[in-house]
Amino acid sequence: MTLLRDEALAGAFDRAAPRYDTLVALNPGYHAHLRRSARRLGLPGDGAGARVLDVGCGTGASTAALRAVLPRAEVTAADASAGMLARAAGKPWAAPVTFVHASAERLAEEGVRGPFDAVFAAYLLRNVADPDAVLAGLRGLLAPGGRLVVHEYALSGRRADRLVWNAVCRGFVAPLGNALGDGALYRHLWRSVVDFDTAGAFGQRLARAGFRDVRVLPLPGWQTGITYTFTGRVPA
Ligand SMILES: C[S@@+](CC[C@H](N)C(=O)[O-])C[C@H]1O[C@@H](n2cnc3c(N)ncnc32)[C@H](O)[C@@H]1O
Repeated sequence: MTLLRDEALAGAFDRAAPRYDTLVALNPGYHAHLRRSARRLGLPGDGAGARVLDVGCGTGASTAALRAVLPRAEVTAADASAGMLARAAGKPWAAPVTFVHASAERLAEEGVRGPFDAVFAAYLLRNVADPDAVLAGLRGLLAPGGRLVVHEYALSGRRADRLVWNAVCRGFVAPLGNALGDGALYRHLWRSVVDFDTAGAFGQRLARAGFRDVRVLPLPGWQTGITYTFTGRVPA
């Protein structure tokens, strides 16, 4: 199983984009869990006056969670895959969203300027070649006191959770990915989670990146011990 990075990963997401929303709809709780994480941004009220960045927005599932929780926030959504981003941008949005074709490593070069009051990164950081560099960049885009929420697959470190993840991938994710012609991307998904930080290690990575008040919060359902919300804030 080969991990995909950078252009190879963006190309795989480009090809998979037309089927992405159908696939995630099969994952119980996918959208509800994104909204739960978006609420963890802790922005007051309906988000009026706040600037929020959705980095790695994909087809817009995380953007929709932000819009549901913070209907009046000013939202910028960026992704490295033109195919995923086009799907997101083509959806009807109740309030405008600024979509930017940019990798998390090159946000500034593509015109994404801080300060943001909050950054949301859903299912992104396990995919990047250098998570520390990306976290440093996101930290630099946040206003003093600004909040980062990372919503991510990360294993608890318990053997039972690793076995569940491998069983779900072997029995469901990999066969479905192969049947749809997206086998390489879904093998990447399987392996990237196994290779990524455990939840505790990722929390420590956030603290090393300069985020304060880091919290590691398991999500409910079959994903418990496999999917987490991580929160942190830039010192005020
Ligand atoms: C699993 S999808 C998640 C999309 C969305 N956030 C959601 O919650 O459904 C991961 C997205 O991250 C994007 N991505 C991966 N690596 C990236 C990078 N280095 N910079 C920006 N986007 C990246 C992919 O193109 C893909 O659209």
